Amino acid sequence: MNPNYSYYNNIFKGQKFPLAYLDIDLLDQNIEMLLKRSKSSKIRIASKSVRCVEVLSYILKSDPQFQGLMTFTADETVFLSQKGFDDLLIAYPIANPENYPELFNEIENGKSIYLMIDCIDHLQQLEKIGQERNLNVPICVDLDLSVDFPFLHFGVWRSPITNNAPLKEILEYLKNCKHLSLEALMGYEAQIAGVGDNFQGATLKNKAVEMMKNKSISKIADRRSKAVDLIKEYGHVLKVVNGGGTGSIESTIKESKVSEVTVGSGFYNSHLFDNYKKFKLRPAAGFAASICRIPKPGIYTCHGGGYIASGAIEAVKAPMPFLPKGVTLDKLEGAGEVQTPIHYQGTEKLKIGDPIFFRHSKAGELCERFNEMHFIKDGKIINTVPTYRGEGKCFL
Ligand SMILES: Cc1ncc(COP(=O)(O)O)c(C=O)c1O
Repeated sequence: MNPNYSYYNNIFKGQKFPLAYLDIDLLDQNIEMLLKRSKSSKIRIASKSVRCVEVLSYILKSDPQFQGLMTFTADETVFLSQKGFDDLLIAYPIANPENYPELFNEIENGKSIYLMIDCIDHLQQLEKIGQERNLNVPICVDLDLSVDFPFLHFGVWRSPITNNAPLKEILEYLKNCKHLSLEALMGYEAQIAGVGDNFQGATLKNKAVEMMKNKSISKIADRRSKAVDLIKEYGHVLKVVNGGGTGSIESTIKESKVSEVTVGSGFYNSHLFDNYKKFKLRPAAGFAASICRIPKPGIYTCHGGGYIASGAIEAVKAPMPFLPKGVTLDKLEGAGEVQTPIHYQGTEKLKIGDPIFFRHSKAGELCERFNEMHFIKDGKIINTVPTYRGEGKCFL
């Protein structure tokens, strides 16, 4: 069933607005589609795109193919570890690891936690901690998978390890590190995983992105394969070779040396992920803001709604009003801090107090705006759970 206005409107009668929700029926469909796309590959869940403990547990329990989390800060990793999660790959280097003794306590207590590194400084910092605590610290190398075209750096700016030469320097240095064990390699092909190629009204741009994606894929596979071989030559045994994200599952799992693919945004399917040719997911998560005034027939002003996503400033970072069908943001005001005017000429008889339903542009950021999320299923609210924010946590 496609979600429609009266379905959600009935569910949320009597609730306070604004509110965030997760449609479990649609989440289940997304889980099924993501599993299907991943074939038999292990899937690591990107917690940054979920930011709710209950949802992380729900997905992990839904199928044994889901194994482990990709976390985003030291404190978040400790929080999740203490909630009972294990197999935690911290996707980004920690700038001052000495400030997070709790993280190393978790490792000491037997938790499987990998710390990201991409330079000698990172190694030195972690080796020092390992030495002081007489602890073996599992590390993961971040391999950059961007591809340069004459006119564009197609990818992101993260790791300086762009080929086997800097990787070799790391591996040479590691020979002196008695307290570090290189157990994982991560390469995030952001330009495939996180860049849509099917935006409405952007035929030329879509074609250019598709062409660059196609040209990148073999280069990415080659770079990752060579890195894995070099690491093995140095005698390290990789437990994890991680790649990808929601938008790249198909190409990432084709690489025989990849042991797992990361997926995050595809569970909620925030609206940025509507714009991919290869897959269609369901709008599982959203928020509702209520109409508090009607300045003119056809314009309904909601209380709240201005939950803009991070990243380069562009129109797609605004939340997308999506129900009732036909609602649009006002071009001049957009989604506002306290007031969001919505244009609507459809058949629903909207009145003050009625909700307008929106989807966030980015998945996990929705949870930074709400303390709780209502789980809905079969036409009713079945549970209301805290987000990270609702647990008093603000990691980034
Ligand atoms: C290192 C890394 N891996 C994977 C992902 C993919 O996550 P998602 O599926 O939410 O796009 C991201 C997202 O930014 C990332 O930073």
